[in-house]
Amino acid sequence: YLIGIDLGTSATKTVLFDEDGNVIASASKEYPMYQPQNGWAEQKPEDWKDAALETITKVVKESGVSGEDIKGLGISGQMHGLVMLDEDNRVIRPSIIWCDQRTAKECEEMTQKVGAERMIEITANPALTGFTASKILWVRNHEPENYAKCRHILLPKDYVRLILTGEYATEVSDASGMQLLDVPNRCWSDEVLEKLEIDKALLAKVCESPEVTGTILPEIAEMTGLSEKTVVVGGAGDNAAAAVGTGVVKDGKAFTTIGTSGVVFAHSKNVTIDPKGRVHTFCCAVPGCWHVMGVTQGAGLSLQWFRNNFCQDYMKKAEEEGCDAYDYINQDVESVPLGANRLIYLPYLMGERTPHLDPDCRGVFFGLSAIHTRKDMLRAVMEGVSYSMKDCNDILQEMGVTVDDMMACGGGGRSAVWRQMLADMYGCTVKTVAAKEGPALGVAILAGVGAGIYESVEAACEKMIHTDKSCDPIPGNTEQYEKYHEIYKSLYGCLKEQYK
Ligand code: XUL
Repeated sequence: YLIGIDLGTSATKTVLFDEDGNVIASASKEYPMYQPQNGWAEQKPEDWKDAALETITKVVKESGVSGEDIKGLGISGQMHGLVMLDEDNRVIRPSIIWCDQRTAKECEEMTQKVGAERMIEITANPALTGFTASKILWVRNHEPENYAKCRHILLPKDYVRLILTGEYATEVSDASGMQLLDVPNRCWSDEVLEKLEIDKALLAKVCESPEVTGTILPEIAEMTGLSEKTVVVGGAGDNAAAAVGTGVVKDGKAFTTIGTSGVVFAHSKNVTIDPKGRVHTFCCAVPGCWHVMGVTQGAGLSLQWFRNNFCQDYMKKAEEEGCDAYDYINQDVESVPLGANRLIYLPYLMGERTPHLDPDCRGVFFGLSAIHTRKDMLRAVMEGVSYSMKDCNDILQEMGVTVDDMMACGGGGRSAVWRQMLADMYGCTVKTVAAKEGPALGVAILAGVGAGIYESVEAACEKMIHTDKSCDPIPGNTEQYEKYHEIYKSLYGCLKEQYK
């Protein structure tokens, strides 16, 4: 058996798989995101730790599987979050997470110190507010007392690894998003660290994603039911993990995921960089390969925000009936015609990365009229997020990245109406895999490789991934969406200056 943990933004999910990729048990636990100011986003690493330990214990106990038979464990998680620990491994301040937008000034500082061109040559990306390095500089600039106490800098999933194994380690896919890694050479960049005056000793050891980084500590084995022999592999950032979990491990393969953020991700044998920096180039979880991905900051977040504020009746009804509020939302969306009766939504609740790289932009409903109802607004939200995914996909095409095979995953990928929208907008077939939890399966696969059960990531994918549904574009819809997408794109151009 193998365990995959996905430390997400809304919850941590832990899944126990057998060696054929079948789900034996799963558990999840939610926690809050704090927004102390407009555009800021923080979470408590202690919440991640509690959620991981609680869900591991639950799946092991409920499944009745003996810890001795759980050969490997992999952790995936939200990328870019900054966890700072003192000399006793105590958390110094809440984690500033991926969607936080407070670091525009620090990005300027980074570009000036490293040089714009060198930054792209080494880290494969321009300085971005989402990435970890600018968050480190922000703490140094604004909270020098916290920075002075810091002895270890970890990413969210690597903090959970420390709790489970006592090891300070990370791996190349997640480390790419710190903007301190030499992405082409897959190691920390001494040049960037020196220019930004960040001590390399603060960082963890960096390995490849399927490599073993340690085993379970005795007290954790006792608490959770795992074995001290269970190996913990490098794992991967959530997107690189989802790629493995959906079989996107070869050129030509890509996926779209709609979780809190939305991502269009394509595998690449080579380091392919967008000179305009609109999509990210990172190391992927397959040793020696990379990926290119476009990111929408407010994808599932947009629908979740709308649900929480305007669909409380659905949330109550779902609780009473033991179903999911998104089931009612999907039905509403299905009942509204394509184009949401000419209502257009821009999903920029937390600024935007692809294609605008603009931390200051914010969401918009455009064309609202007295004929519109909540159903139209729900459809507009789903379509707006999908237009943004289409923007990401268009840039990959423009860069010449081949996409022959598109998978869908994440919460959005599970919605039939959302998958249809993506297939229609992209004008291509969109497929899903049977396992609902792409990232958890992805890191369980990596754990299977690390534990020596499979000889390579590709071989493990063949064995553990089962394809499920396939959704073809509806003739005529692609053209209709193209017209609305043009209006959608023109709106940001009109509003850009007003956001400043
Ligand atoms: C990727 C990114 C998000 C997070 C949260 O660059 O910021 O996808 O990993 O899931």
